[in-house]
Amino acid sequence: MSTLLSVADAVSLYSFSDAVSTVAYCYRVCLFYLFYYTPFKCFLNATQTPRGAKYPDTLLDVYDVVVWEVNAPLCWGIEPSQILDLYASCLGERHLDIGPGTGKFLFQAVTKKVVHLKDLSLFDFNTISLFRCKKRLNVRNLSVPTLNVRLFAGDIMESDPFLNPSISGPPYEWIEPNEFDSVSANFVLHCINKNDGIPSKEALFLNVSKVLKAGGCFFGSTIVNDLDFFAGSKRGGEVMGKFNESGIFYNAKDTLPDLVAMLNKHFKDVHCDLVGGVAVFKCCGK
Ligand SMILES: C[S@@+](CC[C@H](N)C(=O)[O-])C[C@H]1O[C@@H](n2cnc3c(N)ncnc32)[C@H](O)[C@@H]1O
Repeated sequence: MSTLLSVADAVSLYSFSDAVSTVAYCYRVCLFYLFYYTPFKCFLNATQTPRGAKYPDTLLDVYDVVVWEVNAPLCWGIEPSQILDLYASCLGERHLDIGPGTGKFLFQAVTKKVVHLKDLSLFDFNTISLFRCKKRLNVRNLSVPTLNVRLFAGDIMESDPFLNPSISGPPYEWIEPNEFDSVSANFVLHCINKNDGIPSKEALFLNVSKVLKAGGCFFGSTIVNDLDFFAGSKRGGEVMGKFNESGIFYNAKDTLPDLVAMLNKHFKDVHCDLVGGVAVFKCCGK
C-alpha cells in the first residue's frame, strides 16, 4: 500500500514539462546511438593494415545501410541516388572499379539503369570485399547475364599495382595499359592512408591514368575537409574527426582546390561538383 502511494505521489509530482524534457532526452540519446555510436562502433571492427582499414564480412553486412542510408545523408549531405546517377551516366563497356566495397552502385546501375557495361574489373586490397562483390553481381536476372567480372587484389598506391594477375578465373589475366572505357574510385580517396592531403595520394591518379583509354572517363566522389558544409554541420564534423582519429578516414588535410588541381594534372575536361561535404568528380579523357 505504502509503495502504491509513493508511486502515486511521484506521478502527481511529475509535471508536464518534466515529461517533455524526458521525451526530449530519450530522443537525443536515441539519435546519438543511431547516428554516432552505432556507425562508429561498426567501423571499429575494421582491421588496421599497412594499406588502411580492412572491412570484415560483419561490417560489409551493414555497410550499405550505415554508410549510404545513415552517414551519407546525415553526416555528409549526399543522397545515394546522386552517386547512382553518376555511375549510370559514366559507366563504359569495359570498366574498372577501384575499392568497390560491397558493389552497391555497380549492382544497382546494372540492374536498375540502362548501362552498356560488358566487362568489369574490380581492384581492392581486401579480397573479402572482392569476392562478395563478384557474388552479388553474378546473381541471376541481372540485365547483363553475360557480364564478365575479373578480380584484382592489390594496393592502388603501389608504383605498379596492375602487375598482379587476376585472382578469379581465367588465370594469368592482367590489366593492360589503356584498357578501360571508364574507371571509378568512389568514396576511396578519403580512405587512402596518407595523411598529407591529396598531393600525398597522387599515385592513385597516376595509376588510373595508365589504364584509362585516351577518351575514357574517370569518376567518383570523396569527402573533403575544407568545406563550409562542415562548419555548419556539427554531426558531420564530429563523425569525420572520430573517423580520422581511429584510422577509418585519412582526409584531415584533403582540400577541394588540391583535388581539382590533381584531377587537372592527370585528366582532361574535369567536372567537380560539391554536394554537401562531398566532391563529386567526372573527368572525360586523359
Ligand atoms: C569506403 S569504401 C568505398 C566502397 C564503395 N566504392 C562505395 O562507394 O561504397 C573504400 C574501399 O576502398 C578500398 N581501399 C582503400 N584503400 C585502398 C588501397 N590503397 N588500395 C586498394 N583499395 C583500397 C577499401 O578496401 C574499400 O573497399
